Amino acid sequence: MMIDLKGKTALVTGGAQGIGKAVCLALARAGADIAVSDINIEKAAETAAELAALGVKTVAIGGNVAEPAAAQEMVEKTVAALGRLDILVNNAGITRDNLIMRMKEDDWDLVLDVNLKGSFNCSKAALKVMSKARSGRIINIASVVGAMGNAGQANYVASKAGLIGLTKTVAREYASRNITSNAVAPGFIDTAMTQALPEKVREELMKQIPLGRLGSAEDVADAVLFLASDWSSYITGHVIHVNGGMYM
Ligand code: NAI
Repeated sequence: MMIDLKGKTALVTGGAQGIGKAVCLALARAGADIAVSDINIEKAAETAAELAALGVKTVAIGGNVAEPAAAQEMVEKTVAALGRLDILVNNAGITRDNLIMRMKEDDWDLVLDVNLKGSFNCSKAALKVMSKARSGRIINIASVVGAMGNAGQANYVASKAGLIGLTKTVAREYASRNITSNAVAPGFIDTAMTQALPEKVREELMKQIPLGRLGSAEDVADAVLFLASDWSSYITGHVIHVNGGMYM
């Protein structure tokens, strides 16, 4: 039996590239219609065109998740173009790494605004629609460092740990509406975000991963697909770690 999402609609933030794009592809292959939202609208449109070739309905939506009005508009445009909203994947995220003493206030604020407040904004807008439908799935892309901490990433770690708290709170507030809320916490995944790391850092990281490789965006997308499907109906408020064993 394959996972079947025909008749469902998903909104994926930061869906233009990397993990978000892999999530869009996985959900579309299962038959879901997809709203690809991203601050980079040109790239989102390219991804939406690729998805359309799979035979599903798509729409590309621009906007910054950190702005409440933009988040509201993403949800409204999804419903206007695709008719409903069943699955929200809060994936848009950024890093601005530095040691605490060198971290600028602006970099703290920006990372918290996009990663944490952005997910709050999109969830709040989506929950209005899902509450009315009395069903829905919210899946937040957290990070392994949100559970274990990481030197040089105080802002990012705080945002991801906060996102895990938000995940659990939405799960508790909306369980009675048949809306589940879970997180996927990727380890080190081979995307633009980690390709920016120096080769030496990547080699050191690899040594900490029992499975001996960086993860792929598809590894993360598979966990999201599971959480979006009927196979996870009785799971809410949880974090699925996809990290090759680097944190257990
Ligand atoms: P990426 O940088 O390749 O893609 C992020 C996407 O989000 C881009 O398309 C970007 O334009 C978009 N975006 C950035 N700021 C935005 C905003 N304010 N509003 C709307 N869209 C915005 O990153 P990647 O690696 O695919 O990461 C995706 C998610 O996975 C992020 O939340 C990241 O924190 C998380 N993650 C990634 C890991 C990795 O190793 N790559 C590990 C753990 C978590």
